[in-house]
Amino acid sequence: MRIFTEDTFFDLEEGETLLDALERTGHFVEYQCRSGYCGSCRIKLLVGSVDYPKPPLALIKRDEILPCCCRVKEDLKVRVRLKSNMASED
Ligand code: FES
Repeated sequence: MRIFTEDTFFDLEEGETLLDALERTGHFVEYQCRSGYCGSCRIKLLVGSVDYPKPPLALIKRDEILPCCCRVKEDLKVRVRLKSNMASED
């Protein structure tokens, strides 16, 4: 599965959550619980769809997903930046 962000793209590895993959590739995502409770990790989903093996308790809007616990079903585009690119803007 290929994930496109605002700055780059990468492939999801076997058994990896989307949150793990975003961190591995140098993206900035906030998190706390990593299991669908807190909602800290919510990000905007621009293209594609996900589902949840267990319904998350955190509230999210229709266009948001929880990368800590969602299951990626197809290629996605999400609104997430690389840490390195965030520092150079503002
Ligand atoms: S880190 Fe808490 S819901 Fe994802």
